[in-house]
Amino acid sequence: MSKAPGRGQTRYVCQSCGEAFLRWEGQCRACSAWNSLVETVVRAEPKPPRLAVGPGVGGAVATSRLGDVGSADGARLTIGIAELDRVLGGGLVPGSVVLVGGEPGIGKSTLLLQAAAGVAARVGPDRVLYATGEESAAQVRLRAERLGLLDGPAADIRIASESSVDRIGDVAASPPMPALLVVDSIQTATVDDLDGPAGSVGQVRGSALRLMELAKPNGIAVVLVGHVTKDGSIAGPKTLEHLVDAVLTLDGDRYAPIRLLRASKNRFGSTDEVGVFQMSDGGLSEVADPARAFLAEHDGPAPGSVVAPTLEGSRPLLVEVQGLVAPGPGGTPRRTTSGVDSNRVALLVAVLARRAGIGLASHDIYVNLAGGLTVDEPGLDLPLALALASSLRDRPIGPGTVAIGEVGLLGELRAVSGLDRRLREAARLGFVRAVVPRAGRGAPTPDVPGLEIVAVGSLREAIEAALAGGPVGSGRVAVGSARC
Ligand code: TYD
Ligand code: MG
Repeated sequence: MSKAPGRGQTRYVCQSCGEAFLRWEGQCRACSAWNSLVETVVRAEPKPPRLAVGPGVGGAVATSRLGDVGSADGARLTIGIAELDRVLGGGLVPGSVVLVGGEPGIGKSTLLLQAAAGVAARVGPDRVLYATGEESAAQVRLRAERLGLLDGPAADIRIASESSVDRIGDVAASPPMPALLVVDSIQTATVDDLDGPAGSVGQVRGSALRLMELAKPNGIAVVLVGHVTKDGSIAGPKTLEHLVDAVLTLDGDRYAPIRLLRASKNRFGSTDEVGVFQMSDGGLSEVADPARAFLAEHDGPAPGSVVAPTLEGSRPLLVEVQGLVAPGPGGTPRRTTSGVDSNRVALLVAVLARRAGIGLASHDIYVNLAGGLTVDEPGLDLPLALALASSLRDRPIGPGTVAIGEVGLLGELRAVSGLDRRLREAARLGFVRAVVPRAGRGAPTPDVPGLEIVAVGSLREAIEAALAGGPVGSGRVAVGSARC
């Protein structure tokens, strides 16, 4: 540690969690991240005055009756993109700070430029400020042209090609005061009086704090773009996520058109809603029937393919789970998963072997969700297990069949929430049969017109019911051994 007069002290700040240490260490003691400490100059902040009690002291803090406080929800700023408004809980709240995260290239800038255009059409383009530190103003213009926004009011949106938060603040403070300020991205934003490069935890946190100070008293809705790091967290994750009012994540496969917008935190609405978009030449557009957006298109049933009626918040989405099982060349078998938790797949492989006589220990296994979706709900267990069993036995799941249910370590099936809603959606999309966990106490099996419901108690029963053919462990196909 060194101290230069007037310059502040150096600290080693973890780029993952923001914790500061006096000495460099290979692993952060707070969050256990490796090689995340970066030497940073920290300026001594003036200490707040000591708290004092007694008559006549501390009178500067004004309080008001809770009932008299104005509602933060009073005048939401609707964006006009229904899926985005829905995820936000009815539009942007003036004075709030929203973080939109996602991998580079997923479509964050596209979505926010479209959102800026939407707000411009409502409150006037001079009240929308788009600060871009990542791209030049010319690049933003090019995107706007591509999105066909230059013919409308969006052509008059104010663009600031600027990464200094202080200068962005100066622009925002000059009339007309913006109703919406987009900062693309928070990783390029810097605060003038902080040392450290753009993107470091100190700068990211300092910039977000400064923008919050700008947003709250002036009633400006601020939207920050945040890139997600490899491990799936937004840089400076813990610090940023705690600061902002809402965290939205844009998710999807860069090479597939569908994008999902989820709220992982929302102080002004529920985190249950998801927005489904489609990326095309004209930018992100709403999907006409989101429930079927993640169904892969192929003719008829195929071995290894199972449709799962998942529930994303309150919205049912039918997702195709694909499994491929192939005899391995020897040695450690490959386990490749996309869109699902690989630990969960490993667990299901063990349960399949011990409780259902389906041995996959020496097989290579590939699991994928169609459309680049990521699903982490436990109800996906049964479809995953069925996809693996179906691929091993090379028998398709019965036509028009969906399956959902959590699998326990004993091979038992557990109920999932919202079964009725999931199955109604499956019936609406033309499915005729559903393999579901047997009803427990307080959760009766729903009755859905047009849908045959096969309620089963164990994974073994589910495999028998779902795979067209004889019961598990009999017939021509050798199951329960490494060969198939
Ligand atoms: P972008 O919004 O720049 O992503 P991010 O800000 O998250 O890094 O989107 C980049 C991708 O989107 C790029 O690969 C091209 C594609 N795209 C389209 O397919 N259609 C469009 O109309 C636009 C503007 C982009
Ligand atoms: Mg971008």
